[in-house]
Parts: sequence; C-alpha cells; structure tokens
Amino acid sequence: MSSPAAPANLMEAIVALAKRRGFIYPSSEIYGGLNGFFDYGPLGTELKKNIRDCWWNDLVRRRDDIVGLESSIIMHPKVWEASGHVAGFTDPLVDCKVSKMRYRADQLFWSPVLVDDKTLGYVSVLESDNTAGDLQVAAETLKRRKATQGALAPVAPRDFTKAKPEEIPLIPSPATGEPGSLTAPRAFNMMFQTNVGALSDASSVAYLRPETAQGMFVDFKNVVDTTRVKLPFGIAQIGKSFRNEITPRNFIFRSREFEQMEMEYFIHEDADWAKCHEEWITWCENWLKSVGLPDSHLSRYTHPREKLAFYSKGTVDIMFKYPFGVQELWGIAARGNYDLTQHANASGKPQEMFDEATKKKFVPHVIEPAVGVDRIMLAVLCAGYAEEDMTDEKGNVEKRTVLRLSPRIAPVKVAVLPLIKNKEPLVARAKDLYVKLKRKYAVNYDGGGAIGKRYRRQDEAGTPWCVTIDFDTIEKPGDTFTLRERDSMKQRRITEAELFALLEEQVY
Ligand code: GAP
Repeated sequence: MSSPAAPANLMEAIVALAKRRGFIYPSSEIYGGLNGFFDYGPLGTELKKNIRDCWWNDLVRRRDDIVGLESSIIMHPKVWEASGHVAGFTDPLVDCKVSKMRYRADQLFWSPVLVDDKTLGYVSVLESDNTAGDLQVAAETLKRRKATQGALAPVAPRDFTKAKPEEIPLIPSPATGEPGSLTAPRAFNMMFQTNVGALSDASSVAYLRPETAQGMFVDFKNVVDTTRVKLPFGIAQIGKSFRNEITPRNFIFRSREFEQMEMEYFIHEDADWAKCHEEWITWCENWLKSVGLPDSHLSRYTHPREKLAFYSKGTVDIMFKYPFGVQELWGIAARGNYDLTQHANASGKPQEMFDEATKKKFVPHVIEPAVGVDRIMLAVLCAGYAEEDMTDEKGNVEKRTVLRLSPRIAPVKVAVLPLIKNKEPLVARAKDLYVKLKRKYAVNYDGGGAIGKRYRRQDEAGTPWCVTIDFDTIEKPGDTFTLRERDSMKQRRITEAELFALLEEQVY
C-alpha cells in the first residue's frame, strides 16, 4: 500500500464524495439549488448527529458545571436591538452595476499598478475570507497579474473598504474586468427578517436568530433561579442559526443556514478571565483532536486589540487548514459582562448574582466558545479524505478512497458482512451479530458482492471496522470473525465479546 494522498483538487473530490455517498446534497436540487443552503443525506445526518452528541456529552453530561438549553429560533425583536445586531450585524456590500454581482468589500482586494511610466492602472482580485492568510493570497495573485498589466505599485493590496472615493471608479469589477461599475460599500444587515402573526407591518417584524448565544443570556436568570448552578458555570446550546451571507462559499464552510454549538461560561467579575479563557481554548483544541482532527492542521489566531469590539477583552480563533486556506473553525471570546448588562438595561430586569463573601450584587462576566457543526463536519471530511493505491486480494493494484473518520463520529461504526450470500448458518450468524450490535451502535449489513468491493464501499463511508462472518466462524471452535480495520486494512480474528469491548473503548 502506498502512502495516502490528497488529490490535486481536494475540495472537488470531497464535494463529489459527499454527494455520491449521501453525506451532503445541495438544497432543493431538483429546482436548481438555493445558494448557501444544504441538505444532509443519510450518512451526513449520522455524522452531524455524532459531532453534536460528542460535544454535548463531553461538555454538558460529563462535566458538573455546565447545563443545557434550547431556546427558540425566533425571539423578541428587542433581544437583537439590545445585543447590537439590529444596528451592527452588518457586512460591507459592494454591487457591480453591470453584472449585478454582489461582493463583500472586505473580500475584494485591489492594488494600483504602473502600466508604464505615465499610466497608473488598477487590478482587483476576489479572495475567500478576510484573514491574514488571504491577504497573502491576494498579494500573490495580484503580483502574478503584473506580468500582463504592468508593475505592481509599491503598496500592499488593500481591501475595498479602504478605497478612497476617488479610487472606487478606477478599480475593475472582478466580474467584468472593467472599472466604473462598482458602488461604494454600504452596510448590509445579515439577519433574515420575518413577520410574526397575521399582520405584515413594522410592528410584527422579527428575525431568525443569527447566533444561538443570545438565548443563553436572555435565559440567564431563569437558569440561575430554577437550578442549583454556582459560579463558575456554563449554559450550552446547539441549534440552527441563520445569516444572509453576501457571499456564501466553500461548500458548507459559510452557508446561510447552519448549526452552532455555543456555550456561555459565566465567571465572577473578579475572576482571572485570562486564565479561564486560556483553559477554554485548550479544552476546544483537545476536543477537536478527540474527534480526529490532526494537530498539524490546527493553529491559533489572536484577534489584534485594535480590531476588538470595545467591550471585548480578547478573542482567539482556532484555525483549521482547509484545502482553500487556513480559516476560522472555533472562536473563543472573552466578552466581559457586556451582553448581560445590555439585556438588563434594555429589559429593566437586573441580570445579577449575589456574592455571599462581599454581600454585594454583581453582573457575571463570560467566556464564549462558539463553533459551527457544519464547519467541524467539513474539517473532518477534509482531514479524513485520502486516495491510495492498494493491492487487492488477487495482487492487482487498484485505487481506494478512504475517509479516515474517528470512530467517535463515524456515521457507521461496524459493517457486518457474511462472506457469501446463500450459506444458511453463516448468514444466520451474521444477522444475529448485526441485530445485537444495532441495539447500541449504527451498523450496516452488507450481504452482496465481492468482499473487496464491500470493504471499499465502507472505506468511502468512513466505517472504521468491517466484520466478516466466514466458514471459520461456523466450522471452527471459538465463534470468531475476521475484523478488518479501515486505516491499516489489517485483518485479525476476534470474538463477539472482544468486538463489543473494542467498540465500548473507542466509541464514546
Ligand atoms: N456568538 C458568537 C458567534 O456567533 P461567530 O464567529 O459569528 O461568533 C461562531 O460564529 C462560529 O459559528 C464560527 O466560528 C463558525 O464555526 C460558525 N459560523 C459562523 N458563521 C457561519 C456560516 N455562515 N456558516 C457556517 N458556520 C458559521
């Protein structure tokens, strides 16, 4: 077997596999799809559920200091006024008047070029997200263009938000390549609006939540008053969020409907927030590794002080090396007591706790780890995908595609394969094992076709183990099966009790 390899266009291969094997489909595909929306097929649904379950079990069930919540998707519109989303949850939008294309100004990079001694021209390039990594890519792309367009003026590429009014008409639209059609950036609010009730007027306007976090703040007092939580403690929630992204992109990385797993960890106002922040960053990194993401693909990005909101004490993003660049996976923010204070002021209901030691009331501060389920799913698909040359049972070299998913999150844990279809005692033993396994685990029964082909089918689905019920199972003492491991393709004999012990240890 040769070493695993990623294909030249890894993203295309992953999108194709996701469709082919029923992980992810474009939403409403028979009507041409809807940009920024996706459906999860049978394997994708299981994978997503396993990601959610691992997070929930590790965070809420296995710790004593965190409780769960499920708040409504549509909340009182005043929630979003108090949180600052109505006024400030915006992206800078640029229109191309000719092509009707829309861009995020902070993803549109441009640079002056010296076409010749006398003429100054401009080039532009679209890049994925607004990170330091993309600025680098933009600089490289713009530099490559200088061969045809002249020398790059000695300034770093800037994003469109930094264009002066007199420069805007000179910058070419990425759609047409011609200047003159781009508008000045304007603030575009990303919240989806709807109306609650029979009337559709200003008084009935409501929003689909753009984050799950506000549910935890708005229900803070309810949780404190109805449970026995003591500081420090967290409230965690998993649920759908909606953002009318200007440029949904990179498959499920940035979509308009997605799922978040957020936790608000409340601490005393005098607590060492920096230590707590660091502990949560480490917890999140370790958790990502526990679901199979390699250390080599993870890094940290500390938001510069000057880019933080005024109330923020610090934000660190855990970044992942996606095929399209290093991008944010999980944000861990130290938000002070901003959110509770805002809701206390807007609602007139104090959001305080009582300090027995000082006999004073205070508003707790919060550390917020916030991550997208879909983004983790994309990361595990990217990290796990490999194409390899392998030698089959007859000595032929063939290609196999394999998804190296951690047993914790793999959609199917074990495939039960009777070696042949019609041999009664063999099939009966296979079915008996299948029924026992299914009580506890997601299991597949695959009775047909060449055994090598059946292994390959499971490799592509990310199934960590296959058990084959063969003649030795029924003819020799010991009632053993062949256990075949997905990653090493090694085979060994195993009893039913050993199989259950293996699953117990690895699937938790
Ligand atoms: N309450 C804080 C908050 O929502 P955020 O950085 O906007 O912070 C948190 O979002 C996480 O949600 C991100 O790190 C990312 O994993 C995920 N996320 C955000 N926007 C997303 C989108 N449009 N599509 C998919 N996932 C998204």
